[in-house]
Amino acid sequence: MATPIVILDFGSQFTQLIARVVRALGVYCEIEPYSISSEALKAKGAKGIILSGGPSSVGAKSSPKITKTIFELDVPILGICYGMHLLSHLTKGKVESGGSREYGFAEIEILECHGLFAGFKKGERVSVWMSHGDSVGNVPPGATVLARSERCPAAIQLNQLHAVQFHPEVAHTSIGERVFSNFLFNICNLSNDWKMENFLETRSKEILEKVGEAEVIGGVSGGVDSTLLAVFLGKILGKRFHPVLIDNGLLRKNEAKEVAMFLKRVNVPLRVVDASKLFLKRLERVTDPEKKRKIIGKTFIEVFETECKRLKKVKFLAQGTLYPDVIESVSVKGPSHTIKTHHNVGGLPKHMKLGLVEPFRELFKDEVRALGRTLGVPEEILARHPFPGPGLAVRILGSVSKDRLDLLRQADAIFTEELRSQNLYSDIWQAFAVLLPVKAVGVMGDARTYESVVSLRAVTSRDGMTADWYHFEKPVLGRVANRIINEVPGINRVVYDISSKPPATIEWE
Ligand code: XMP
Repeated sequence: MATPIVILDFGSQFTQLIARVVRALGVYCEIEPYSISSEALKAKGAKGIILSGGPSSVGAKSSPKITKTIFELDVPILGICYGMHLLSHLTKGKVESGGSREYGFAEIEILECHGLFAGFKKGERVSVWMSHGDSVGNVPPGATVLARSERCPAAIQLNQLHAVQFHPEVAHTSIGERVFSNFLFNICNLSNDWKMENFLETRSKEILEKVGEAEVIGGVSGGVDSTLLAVFLGKILGKRFHPVLIDNGLLRKNEAKEVAMFLKRVNVPLRVVDASKLFLKRLERVTDPEKKRKIIGKTFIEVFETECKRLKKVKFLAQGTLYPDVIESVSVKGPSHTIKTHHNVGGLPKHMKLGLVEPFRELFKDEVRALGRTLGVPEEILARHPFPGPGLAVRILGSVSKDRLDLLRQADAIFTEELRSQNLYSDIWQAFAVLLPVKAVGVMGDARTYESVVSLRAVTSRDGMTADWYHFEKPVLGRVANRIINEVPGINRVVYDISSKPPATIEWE
């Protein structure tokens, strides 16, 4: 598949947003590190290139640079912020450091109504979002200034090179979509034919070709991505696809049953492997969060490996890898700190020699949801809150046991039930209960109790990277707490977690 637009990443926080906007306009694009070789770039067959912003100054020796060989591709280039500075730098313009900083909203005046500003009016003033310390002082010889802010050129053009100082990819820049449309459809002459249906068709053909006569195994966790993976592969491979759910005993109430029932309805028979005893045995008396995660990850691989051996014709492993996971490994950003070891099906041992099938490798989360809708998956499955691989083990502080899991499951189910019945579930990114490793004194029917404490956690978030606690109306919290204390013997106190991320994380462990 050719890639009509390639975005070169110079480390901006908004690079993924550029890709999202371009795709939302119906043009397929991929993000590559700025250091991609010109041969590799050429091989992608791009009809246009976008240079992202970035935190560096072009003047600094260590700043990420590209060479003029990029011009040999002979395709239009759009530089955004740092990308604008870089294009100016390469064409003998002068970039100034620190003199004309602009952060947040800025007004720009449109001076020329062609190129990126075709369809705008000369003299029109529009509001855009800026975030820069550097700016172009002297525009490159021969370049036209298309727009200006009070402080600096806001957009310039030099033949095939187009550049903007502002960020058209952020929602605050309301003219952003028009600017991108001009670049994609008028300047690069692309058509808006990136549609989910086309993607599904192309991807199905590719998978059938890759897999040949072999069979494919895939882990299902109950989460959106792996459930959709099972629906999609079940559709194209039929009985040659073997979805497996490993019940580690750490799932939510009825979770395994509900996923299996849904997949059965769409004719994808799920095999549920009950390995809960093994997981719980290995977790006995383990209290350290990282140890828990490692034990769960390792045990998962062992059980999965046994399943693979049972199915002799299996030569491929299907994974629900998404695009953000892929670009994380190619981006210019350095490796980030390990806060928590995330365990997913990813790390199967090499000796298993399974090929990988990753149909969603190029998709963002909301595109996967759109694909789910195209495949007819009901909204209640698509809108499910994320659930971590290590499951309830990271929501039980201290050691994990069957009794404590049952206690938590009941409290958690009541919380979710209340959110659904009060139509709050979809306003919240993730909501769950956490069992604390302390007991508290209470009084019930004149008798003293000494029982467990549950904390409720509910957060809003866009991507799980940052989060704010959800501001419930007090009666909602009151009702949930009341029901938990009355209906779950063993819990006599409920508290609400009002920490944001950072400094806290969403899960407690
Ligand atoms: P934290 O707790 O790091 O969580 O703020 C961010 C998001 O990631 C989920 N999470 C995981 N997902 N495997 C997963 O697949 C894991 O090991 C894991 N740990 C945390 C968490 O539920 C939240 O959505």
